[in-house]
Amino acid sequence: MEFYLDLKNNNDYSSLEEAANIIKAGGVVLFPTETVYGLGANALDSNAVEKIFIAKGRNPKNPINLLVSNMKMVEMVSSNINELEYKLMEAFFPGPFTIILQKNSKVPSIVTAGKDTVGVRMPSNEIAKTLVEYAGVPIAAPSANVSGKPSGTNFNDIYNDFKDKVDYMIDGGSSSIGIESTIVQIIDNIPHILRPGSVTESQIKAVCGISPIKDYEINPSNLPSNKLKHYSLNSKSILVYSNDNERLTSKIKEIASDYTSPIIVCSSENINTYKDLKVINMGSTFDEIAQRLFATLKEADNFSPDIIIIEGIEQVGLGSAIMNRLINACENNYIEV
Ligand code: TXA
Ligand code: MG
Repeated sequence: MEFYLDLKNNNDYSSLEEAANIIKAGGVVLFPTETVYGLGANALDSNAVEKIFIAKGRNPKNPINLLVSNMKMVEMVSSNINELEYKLMEAFFPGPFTIILQKNSKVPSIVTAGKDTVGVRMPSNEIAKTLVEYAGVPIAAPSANVSGKPSGTNFNDIYNDFKDKVDYMIDGGSSSIGIESTIVQIIDNIPHILRPGSVTESQIKAVCGISPIKDYEINPSNLPSNKLKHYSLNSKSILVYSNDNERLTSKIKEIASDYTSPIIVCSSENINTYKDLKVINMGSTFDEIAQRLFATLKEADNFSPDIIIIEGIEQVGLGSAIMNRLINACENNYIEV
């Protein structure tokens, strides 16, 4: 049996049949999606899903979202979908968008950690979509990372963590978006954003006609994983934001001067500002920063510096999702100057 499939430079997706057979037989497959890599198993098979919890070291209280390939599969796992929920799915499926729906009895309780709701997403990435299609069942797929660590957005970053823990691995190059899906739940006819992502608040407002409530700021415990540690780095880190670039860079230099081996993660624009200091370029546009966010954090962490100092960005649009991950990565060690 092939253990590894390289679809980085080859789009013969018929070879995904083998991986789909492994899913059908109760195995775990690591594969790319447009947001981040996932670790997938047949969502309707509780023994298979249990293997994901073991492979990630995932807390059993943290429910897993499902990937589907069509609306029939959405209806296979949910019940009582309302008009607003349909509207959101119509607008954002397939894509980086997860909706929390009322679950039905087909979904084993291990998937939803005993909750009566289930997260559902239809991926746009061709590999992920074809894999679900061939498997013919919804695939339970959390992000591919050891629990508590930043998500994997390219194969090489996660290969060693999972090579002995999964049944099959698919290399599809780097994830095009780089941060996990936006998660929305409709509560009393009002959209709540449980996790920000690349589908933005204003896009959700445009579809629903009402401003969504930002649970990730005002009610973070609505996302079960927020009660657990995640995206954490091994090195000490701090996130600094200012709306004035001069103030931002001076503050960062001042903090760096208290350390012996600091690393600064900064925007392309500021690369030459931190003359004698070690810097890592996080990119220029929000899209670029998101796309390599987790790889950049891992790269910085691998140097084992005595501090990682990260430049914050403005919290608008995709910037909100990026800052949400950075604030978590720094374990709330965040200052505005
Ligand atoms: O983009 C994504 O969503 C990626 C790719 C692989 O599809 N997956 C992903 O999965 O980010 P994960 O498990 O790392 O994050 C899913 C989040 C967790 O924070 C979990 O607590 C939350 O979704 N979640 C899952 N089911 C839920 C439910 N029924 N109600 C509320 N939150 C839920
Ligand atoms: Mg995750």
